[in-house]
Amino acid sequence: MDLHLKGKTAVVTGASQGIGRAIVMELAREGVTVFATARNAESLKKLKNEVIAETGITPVIFAQDILAPDGPQRIAEAAQAAFENIDILINNAGQSSPVEITGPEKPWEDSMALDFDRPRQLTQALLPQMISRRQGVILNLTSTYELRSINVSAVAKASMAAWSKQLAGQVGQFGIRVNTLQPGLIDTANIRPYFSDEERKSFAEREIPLGDFGNPQDMADMAVFLVSSRARYITGTAVVVDGGMRRYPF
Ligand SMILES: NC(=O)c1ccc[n+]([C@@H]2O[C@H](COP(=O)([O-])OP(=O)(O)OC[C@H]3O[C@@H](n4cnc5c(N)ncnc54)[C@H](OP(=O)(O)O)[C@@H]3O)[C@@H](O)[C@H]2O)c1
Repeated sequence: MDLHLKGKTAVVTGASQGIGRAIVMELAREGVTVFATARNAESLKKLKNEVIAETGITPVIFAQDILAPDGPQRIAEAAQAAFENIDILINNAGQSSPVEITGPEKPWEDSMALDFDRPRQLTQALLPQMISRRQGVILNLTSTYELRSINVSAVAKASMAAWSKQLAGQVGQFGIRVNTLQPGLIDTANIRPYFSDEERKSFAEREIPLGDFGNPQDMADMAVFLVSSRARYITGTAVVVDGGMRRYPF
């Protein structure tokens, strides 16, 4: 299937590793020029070289802590300086943040910012040019919510899901689509610390109908489809990629 993505531009956050990295690679394979941002400059450089070697397309890389109060603005300005127009925004940066029931405020503030406020602010910074061009696609990475602990990231992602739905309702009239992509358990550095190999196996056998964690490519394949014009009638929805782990049917 031709996804008609050739020649498009995309901003991808959290691009240095895991799901974001896989999304950058897959977008580039489809002919998209990507503005890839995260904190780790070395990993971004490696990614850039890999993209050039495999696709011949030169991505723009930008090392920035998105958690900094002016992080979203800096990213938006750099992306708009790099590309005349931005067709696609993928808000992927995020980090699991388990806390004690009565834990301190700092992880709550940081994780609510990283997993909700900063991506919202980046989106708001890039939306005016999408609105004026009457086109654009926004994809927000969210989370599974059926956790056995309190995880601030999942709470922030619930806000992200609610806001994404509301935003989709407002910007559809300008030809802009907004969706969320909801991973189950995907084998990345984000979740590895919480599962030994043995725990992963027994958890997957017990809880995941398809019997194992997913991998970043599973997410990238869906992400690239969702931001393509093949998904032109899909907006305001959550797409779950979790091997069947979620217990409720909708
Ligand atoms: N893996 C899963 O099972 C799972 C489950 C639920 C939700 N998710 C969500 O999926 C998304 C991708 O997760 P992943 O599993 O691929 O995680 P990952 O491998 O840990 O990657 C996270 C990415 O976010 C970037 N990042 C983190 N903090 C940042 C900051 N302060 N400023 C800028 N960039 C920052 C990291 O880059 P630097 O360290 O270079 O900054 C990295 O590129 C996240 O939003 C995560 O919450 C994943």
